Amino acid sequence: MKLKFFKIVSLQQSWLLGTCIFALTLFSCKNKKQDQFDNRKISFNEEWSFHLNDSINDKDTIGKTTVWKNLDLPHDWSIEGKFDEKSPAGYGGGALNGGLGWYKKTFKIKESDRNKIVSVIFDGVYCNSEVWINGHYIGKRPNGYIGFQYDLSPYLNFGETNNEILVKVDNSKQPNSRWYSGSGIYRNVWLQITDKVHVAENGTHITTSQVSSEKAKVHIETTIRNQNKEAKKITVSTTIYKEDEKIETAQQEVVVTETNSLFIEQDFEIQNPALWSVEKPELYTAVTEVFVNEKVIDSYKTNFGIRDFRFDLEKGFILNNKQIKIKGVCLHHDLGPLGSAVNTRAIERQLQIMKEMGVNGIRTAHNPPAPELLDLCDKMGFIVMDEAFDMWRTPKTKYDYASVWDEWFERDLFDQIKRDRNHPSVFIWSVGNEIPEQWNETGVLIAKNLIDLVKQQDPTRPVTVAMNPPVNMNIDEVTLQFDKAKTYFNAIAASGALDLIGYNYAHQTYAFHQKNFPTTPFIATETTSALATRGYYDSVSDTIKKWPVRWDLKFTGGNPGNTVSAYDQVQAPWGSTHEATWKIIKKHDFLSGMFVWTGFDYIGEPTPYEWPSISSYFGIVDLAGFPKDVYYMYQSEWTNKDVLHIFPHWNWKVGQTVDVWAYYNHADEVELFLNGKSVGKRSKKGDDLHVMWRIPFQPGTLKAVSRKDGKVVLEKEIQTAGNPSKLNVSADRNEIIADGKDLSFITVDVLDAKGILVPTAKNEIHFSVKGKGKIVGVGSGNPVSHESFKGNKHTAMAGKCLVIVQSEKESGRIEVTAKANGLQPKTIVITTK
Ligand code: GAL
Repeated sequence: MKLKFFKIVSLQQSWLLGTCIFALTLFSCKNKKQDQFDNRKISFNEEWSFHLNDSINDKDTIGKTTVWKNLDLPHDWSIEGKFDEKSPAGYGGGALNGGLGWYKKTFKIKESDRNKIVSVIFDGVYCNSEVWINGHYIGKRPNGYIGFQYDLSPYLNFGETNNEILVKVDNSKQPNSRWYSGSGIYRNVWLQITDKVHVAENGTHITTSQVSSEKAKVHIETTIRNQNKEAKKITVSTTIYKEDEKIETAQQEVVVTETNSLFIEQDFEIQNPALWSVEKPELYTAVTEVFVNEKVIDSYKTNFGIRDFRFDLEKGFILNNKQIKIKGVCLHHDLGPLGSAVNTRAIERQLQIMKEMGVNGIRTAHNPPAPELLDLCDKMGFIVMDEAFDMWRTPKTKYDYASVWDEWFERDLFDQIKRDRNHPSVFIWSVGNEIPEQWNETGVLIAKNLIDLVKQQDPTRPVTVAMNPPVNMNIDEVTLQFDKAKTYFNAIAASGALDLIGYNYAHQTYAFHQKNFPTTPFIATETTSALATRGYYDSVSDTIKKWPVRWDLKFTGGNPGNTVSAYDQVQAPWGSTHEATWKIIKKHDFLSGMFVWTGFDYIGEPTPYEWPSISSYFGIVDLAGFPKDVYYMYQSEWTNKDVLHIFPHWNWKVGQTVDVWAYYNHADEVELFLNGKSVGKRSKKGDDLHVMWRIPFQPGTLKAVSRKDGKVVLEKEIQTAGNPSKLNVSADRNEIIADGKDLSFITVDVLDAKGILVPTAKNEIHFSVKGKGKIVGVGSGNPVSHESFKGNKHTAMAGKCLVIVQSEKESGRIEVTAKANGLQPKTIVITTK
């Protein structure tokens, strides 16, 4: 695309302003590709030392005698611990302990950087971090999910003299979270070196308007800081790129006064813009360069997207003039066996698994996510609801963020919005989840204040609060309409403060939304909370006795091992089956969409909330990343792929009666055959989302055939497996990058002699690795397993197990062998490049 229009470049004084002059010129940028810009930030993750000791609370006692362990960040120490029934974190926290840890790192800064600004940027530390540089205290940050930055420059040594940064992380007061938080410097750390004149961190704000496929306006506000003691005459040039193609450049000369900040605005018009959408997430990059005497002294890159959207009272969510349903999931931040330690590939894998299922929306429950998650959502095409808090001033657990709310909420929210507002994937801000104050006037005041704070930083997106159902569950059973006169009516919902009415659960009321809230559009901020253990089922006679739809009644009759049947029949009392909520959301255009609780199982908050369970059962996918059956219900509804999925497994006792379910699409019937003999054809009627046959078990082969107009669409077979005989291993990627970070996720299947997956296999699998990699996690998705995620062995669940292998920085081969007693072992080779 070529520059066709002369752009308007304006400069404006603001609350941040120093004095300035401006000139308007057209600028021809040097021939650099956009990825060569912005090298002011380098990774600061390597070669840290760590010490865990609850009794050392004082930095001066962290002496030379302390035993330090060398490690690279990101690091989560809790995941390395033992599951502990008595853990102060409780089952909610995954029965893994918090504690108090210290991190330190020595480093040198070149003499030539003496006149620069050297900062450290933490993307997130859980929690209550305090930082010292060369013995000087530089600050604290209680919130474990927000990024922060310190200017180290005044205290640094330059040249050959070492510097030491020391970080105290205090996650010892427990419980402070309703889910597993992890502990430590669990997100990335960066060292940033800039000139004294530079673009402020998160110092660009890009908005788009008048968006169509013909053209779009792009408005860029940039904050430039001058930390010199004298004024500087600078040129600020911003170039918009689409990949490596330059689209437009704006340049202006300004004077930024001493020790001050300058706020400038630049406007562009893009012809035939490539619009960002969930199917085609087109990205642009704005490169801001600061010149002094024609020399670039700083460059800063911001990715953004051009898209137009609105939430409509009649049509729900409209993106680029097209109505789409938000088919979202809520995700907590842990990465299963890796704990909370951020790894970009692990997040990407989660998102790929979600995308394959047809998910197009992610809710960052209930906190600001890792920056990498938003970068990936931008690139992969997800609609993000970016959430700030799980509580305000009233605590939900004894030591949670409520205790520092008054001091920190403004700063934390401000930083989150500034950090995330350029991401095209972010569409909704949520300033809270199920906040206790939502029922009274205090809540309304806080909500209004938070919404104002958000709007000051970003007026372009709707703000919601994920509320409890507006009438505290006592919904009028007859009309399903809310009686606003009743005192228990949700005060925030009634206040008119929200751009979007968002509430969790109470799917029975969704159809009446327009009557209940005629002037505000709707999003189901959290739904479902159905429960399942992957690969566990009961035969029908058992199901009826043991599996009422209420999980809390489940132990009547007993259910060994705290397993929960994977038929979509078991739910939390406040939730629904997966099918029930989706049927309603699907039916009404005015319901913009939903975020299912949850896409993946997460550590902590087991339901049943009792030992030995230590992780959740809510996931559509388990903790290891293996889909449960209902994954295919969504896939049949949410994608265009042909789907046919039948379950359960086919290893029962002769004479047991078994319900066989099929999820399918693109067909008008499914016929089921048992050992070659038809047991009947089934078709979905009305709003059905599955079909079912109730049949007596006989060993052999169960085969389903889906047909459309008499033509076969798909066939699926399940066979009765014999005893475990051998292992198979397969990797999600056989070639990974030799960067010391990349991961290969290797699945182990326990097979019988004929190669059929043994669905009941619980063999203990041992792993060994040779070559240029190491094991960083093992798991099976079993919510009651207390084996370490960090060991080199794990017990398979329902025939499956996972080992995660990480590359080293040298390229070569990683040979991973899986063994189990009495079974034929298997080796796989991963290449690293
Ligand atoms: C919701 C809550 C979530 C999770 C879920 C479990 O009420 O917002 O964080 O606890 O229940 O069903």
